[in-house]
Amino acid sequence: MSLLEIPEFEPQPENGDKHLPKHIGIIMDGNGRWAKARGLPRAEGHRRGVEALRRTLKYASELGVQFMTIYAFSSENWKRPQDEISDLMGLLRRFIRKDLAELHSKNVRIKIIGSQENLPSDIITLLHEARTLTSSNTGTTLVVAFNYGSRDEITRACRQLAKDVKEGMLDPDAISENTLTNFLDTHDIPDPDLIIRTSGEMRLSNFLMWQAAYSEFYFDDVLWPDYDKENLERAVHYYMRRERRYGGLGATA
Ligand code: FPP
Repeated sequence: MSLLEIPEFEPQPENGDKHLPKHIGIIMDGNGRWAKARGLPRAEGHRRGVEALRRTLKYASELGVQFMTIYAFSSENWKRPQDEISDLMGLLRRFIRKDLAELHSKNVRIKIIGSQENLPSDIITLLHEARTLTSSNTGTTLVVAFNYGSRDEITRACRQLAKDVKEGMLDPDAISENTLTNFLDTHDIPDPDLIIRTSGEMRLSNFLMWQAAYSEFYFDDVLWPDYDKENLERAVHYYMRRERRYGGLGATA
């Protein structure tokens, strides 16, 4: 489905529902199993995964979700066969080249989290273009976690903190949770309210571990290429029934 067919792609925060998740993180799992079940190459599963991503972004925007973070390439994905790594890089290239203008016209803002280390230089340039072109947009923010892993993100943040301490710019006794938060790739993105993982696996797999301290989790058996509107609606309804307590006692205590 083309994003051009979307009549209204703006978040609608004034839809009257204060319990709607502001930020949804998605671990898009099951592309390989989807392909295997059909006797297709894994690359086809990933390609269909990009289609699922397009429609999920559309549905999330229509619901009024303000931030959607997708786990597109993890820092551990380098362990995959070289062919598959190339397929995933190629899909990102095509996604940006093909969809960027359209996403921009729909007021989508793109942000990138993850490390630039080991990424091909043209990918770094494309990610930069996507971010800068859409930086002033006010619609849904699509956060692309690419070459991302929480441990790597926290390690990079600590390295920067240590450098600032060494240069006398930061007093170690003044380091708080907020200090570290401000050094993370997500420093300007609210914590995810809801994290969805598809394919029946129940793991965080190094995704937004710091940021997910108080997130709700929704595990769906569906394989990512089959993800559709009903799946997202079920996850959001599940979230809306939860009572978030942030370590306190909550309203029913
Ligand atoms: C997990 O499925 C999925 C990934 C490792 C990559 C997800 C990537 C996409 C959906 C497409 C790329 C996105 C962009 C924006 C270009 P898996 O391969 O681990 O599935 P399996 O567990 O069934 O083998």
